[in-house]
Amino acid sequence: MAEIAVIGCGQAGLVVATSFASLGHHVVGIDIDRRKIEACRDGVTPIQEPGLDRLLTEGLAAGRLTFLHEYPERIEAEFVFIAVDTPTSPSGACDLKALKSATTSLAPALRENAIVVNKSTVPVGTGDEVIRLLRLHGAYNASVVSNPEFLQEGDAIRNFTVPDRIILGGDDPSATARVAELYREFDAPIVQCDIRTAEMIKYASNAFLAMKISFINEMASICDVLGADVSRVAVGMGLDPRIGPKFLGAGIGWGGSCFPKDVSALEYAASLHGVRAQLLRGVAETNRDQRRQVLRKLRGVLGRLETARIVVLGASFKPNTSDVRESPALEVANLLRLSGAEVRVVDEHVLSEEVQAQYPQLTVTGDLLAAAQDADALVLATEWPEFLDLPFDDLADVMRRPLIVDGRNVLDERAVRDAGFIYRCIGRPNAEGQGASFNERDQRIGRDSVPTRNGRQPALASD
Ligand code: UGA
Repeated sequence: MAEIAVIGCGQAGLVVATSFASLGHHVVGIDIDRRKIEACRDGVTPIQEPGLDRLLTEGLAAGRLTFLHEYPERIEAEFVFIAVDTPTSPSGACDLKALKSATTSLAPALRENAIVVNKSTVPVGTGDEVIRLLRLHGAYNASVVSNPEFLQEGDAIRNFTVPDRIILGGDDPSATARVAELYREFDAPIVQCDIRTAEMIKYASNAFLAMKISFINEMASICDVLGADVSRVAVGMGLDPRIGPKFLGAGIGWGGSCFPKDVSALEYAASLHGVRAQLLRGVAETNRDQRRQVLRKLRGVLGRLETARIVVLGASFKPNTSDVRESPALEVANLLRLSGAEVRVVDEHVLSEEVQAQYPQLTVTGDLLAAAQDADALVLATEWPEFLDLPFDDLADVMRRPLIVDGRNVLDERAVRDAGFIYRCIGRPNAEGQGASFNERDQRIGRDSVPTRNGRQPALASD
């Protein structure tokens, strides 16, 4: 069994550390955030990730997992994985401060022939800089291997233990072979290449997935005006093995800590070298526009949004994670607020402070019925399981208007309409009318077509 160090105990690092420990390796996790390390030592995961708690507790109990909040004088591990944050800087470039600082700190502590394995998503060419920094700070014979991660939040443990592929980029074949040995019990193809190519594979993969979503969202906008159903279009397309069914879910678009920063960093890197990455730009623009679909749908029924009360269901960037970074749900909530609506966000998995760090004017609650009191519409923005089975009768009793915009195309339209709600979704004709013609009918009859509940009078600004 190998001795492994993992630098950075965040979303990716902790999954890597606990998963290697669960395979029987000895792992030390190092992070300069003392609070994070103390939590890990106590068996408390600082992030929400299904299955991580168990792996952490088991690793600690077996004595295979230890944590340090400072770099030791000597790192005994043969493999030193780097999994630190590489966020976007204001220019759109990738911020490598944490990666450079980690490399500089660990270099003097490395043992002979250690292998530094980079898992952080980094611009193509960063491997060369890591080698330069290692040499500069005394690690004269350490090797560098690029081994990008393809972990999805909420499914990361499974992604690690049952990977689709393992990418190993390195210029020293014996170092690459030693890292490949670490993964020998995984039943996955190993792609070996040079460091730059490995770094590029990560960006290209994320950019392609983001493009797939933006593509289907653009198709959804076209379906909307032509009266076709984008969900069936996705099924029909996805059966072609050259296309595949995944990441064709139309909705309010992609977010999170990876796609936005990686698409932007790749476009930026291309522009530095004179390449106009027009497709990448379009992918990001379509995604931005997608948030506005919700406002269009609401206006189609309610008229103006000033003084309307809207409940946004979901705050996290996708279900099964409390992560709100670049969350489409919060961007929609904020756009609604900027349009003059009173907005309430419902997500019992997310802390208000986290939301307010990005959007000081937004609050989040776990109390759905209280939030829905006198509301004019619900917007399903994150498809948490509890939102797939909403108490429509109770909601209809407390809401001013029974209207729901399904921003993720996940609700059963018939059930929603049977409960007396008006239903709108993304890129699918409604049962009450077909595509464009129904949208036009909406515009003609405007909000008068929306029944009010409980004899309450609508209180829209245009009244
Ligand atoms: C993404 C990639 O999927 C991982 O392979 C990669 O390792 C990771 O980034 C990373 O670079 O670290 P993640 O950010 O966890 O993983 O999120 P995804 O599950 O990919 O979802 C991203 C966004 O796309 C979410 O906002 C989700 O709601 C949206 N999405 C996804 C859609 O709008 N439609 C879909 O069909 C699928």
